[in-house]
Amino acid sequence: MPTSCSFPCQRSWISYHPSSINLRSHRFVVASSAAAGMELSLTRPDDWHLHLREGELLHAVASHSARQFGRAIVMPNLKPPITTTEAAVAYRQSILKALPEGSVFDPLMTLYLTDNTSPEEIKLARQSGVVFAVKLYPAGATTNSQDGVTDIFGKCIPVLEEMAKHNMPLLVHGEVTDPSVDIFDREKVFIETILEPLLKKLPHLKIVMEHITTMEAVKFIESCSEGSVAATVTPQHLILNRNSLFQGGLQPHNYCLPVLKREIHREAIVSAVTSGSNRYFLGTDSAPHERRRKECTCGCAGIYNAPVALSLYAKVFEQAGSLDKLEAFTSFNGPDFYGLPRNTSKIKLRKSSWKVPVSYPYEHGEIVPMFAGETLEWLPSNN
Ligand code: DOR
Ligand code: ZN
Repeated sequence: MPTSCSFPCQRSWISYHPSSINLRSHRFVVASSAAAGMELSLTRPDDWHLHLREGELLHAVASHSARQFGRAIVMPNLKPPITTTEAAVAYRQSILKALPEGSVFDPLMTLYLTDNTSPEEIKLARQSGVVFAVKLYPAGATTNSQDGVTDIFGKCIPVLEEMAKHNMPLLVHGEVTDPSVDIFDREKVFIETILEPLLKKLPHLKIVMEHITTMEAVKFIESCSEGSVAATVTPQHLILNRNSLFQGGLQPHNYCLPVLKREIHREAIVSAVTSGSNRYFLGTDSAPHERRRKECTCGCAGIYNAPVALSLYAKVFEQAGSLDKLEAFTSFNGPDFYGLPRNTSKIKLRKSSWKVPVSYPYEHGEIVPMFAGETLEWLPSNN
């Protein structure tokens, strides 16, 4: 029976100091700074890591991403997972059907890597024109990863060689699953025991380390050759630290995997991303679960951040005095890495307060977004 926490919960923003904003540094992206509030005009962003789900959940969330983003790399961890190009093409059709009328949102599909994925499947994926990457879930690492890879060096080298040939990126959920490794160390150990040896073996494989959470990941990304290895970064790993899981009571809506880390890790990621390096790009990892699957005795991992992500990224860059670097992170670095054109349309971000809905109801449930009921400052709009 699902239960919910009635403890009066404190929020746990890392505090921001608007007085530290350096207005001079972001002059060229400011569309207007009238008294009503500053306005940024950005090339339309893409989301390079998104969970859209299927069925009712897909219909409940698709428009939130489609309104703001031009494209998204869509994660394949459905039940059953998207392991073939044929399944990816069918899934793409169901996403297109769930979009609001007139939407030009372009879902970029991925395949779910298993011990049995064949090199032939990679050829089909490349030929399809709709599959853009392959996702590595170590078996048991996260939601719907039970069909993931059990032994990458023993089972997957031929398929990874084929991907390198086709310039098809490997998207990595970078955590070991060994239960003897502390959950807060799983990313660091994955880098040492899997990623570094893998790159030595296959130096031409393009890799995106997804949703990085540690200073070790930043160090690893910086050590790799530019354009060959990159990272996506989520709003939650830029804004929250692991205290947010426990502040004022257990906070299931802040639980995601990889789990939030210490403040020093958050700070390292913020510095890396706001430095303007093109090795990092926007990937929300927005991962909706029905409320009862979050607020229960064995709550699912995943934060639903699609409606708030752009506001939060803007806040992080503003706080760092780096609003001039925001557009490259949201809209340039991703397509450049994937070898795709940048979007041509624009969106606006207005510096005006807006209240995040407490939940998004749909026919048989509801989804609680990140910062539900809170007031945020940057409001995205299409005109
Ligand atoms: O928190 C997460 N949720 N991390 C993942 O890796 C998967 C995702 C999901 O699908 O819910
Ligand atoms: Zn994910």
